[in-house]
Amino acid sequence: MQGDLDRILFHETTILSRLDQLAAEISAEYKERELTVIAVLNGSLMFMADLLRRIPLPLKLDCLSVASYHGKTETSGEVIFKQIALPDVAGRHILILDDILDSGHTLAAIRDKLETAKPRSIRVCVLLSKKKIRARPVNADYIGFEIEDEFVVGYGLDFMERYRNLPYIGVLRKDFAVASE
Ligand code: IMP
Ligand code: MG
Repeated sequence: MQGDLDRILFHETTILSRLDQLAAEISAEYKERELTVIAVLNGSLMFMADLLRRIPLPLKLDCLSVASYHGKTETSGEVIFKQIALPDVAGRHILILDDILDSGHTLAAIRDKLETAKPRSIRVCVLLSKKKIRARPVNADYIGFEIEDEFVVGYGLDFMERYRNLPYIGVLRKDFAVASE
């Protein structure tokens, strides 16, 4: 699979040491408040597992599953919630975890939906944030790494459901992204 990449951006050790810092920041800020984490599947699976094991606080974990890409490298703008019942967030301090902030459609839709259930607070944590003008503005409170506007895979991130199991993050070769569409 490494041959499908243009280059590696973040090795596993780099990712994990950044997670040490993020987890320390989050742990300090939620020390006095009971945290409810809502992870956005499938992309945030690896990130969630590695980050949460570094947060030594009592917390609740729920997952949301959404689809927005439909197999292309460009977002469709339409966000589909795959489950009927949303997690119970009323009165709780919510931290949304997602793999990457790109156009902003996904996180804006999730934030709007969760806000209707009246949580006490909502913050957003993403592993990656693309430097670009977003279709919908989303303020990420915690960001692992800022990256250029390129299509990346690995460590949970997919292209057409492939590459999620790579332990590192890399830029997908342009000819691979196009050829399989
Ligand atoms: P947004 O709605 O455009 O912000 O995109 C959010 C979702 O699109 C992410 O949760 C990813 O699943 C997917 N996505 C966006 N950019 C990339 C990328 O570079 N690689 C893999 N998936 C991506
Ligand atoms: Mg995806």
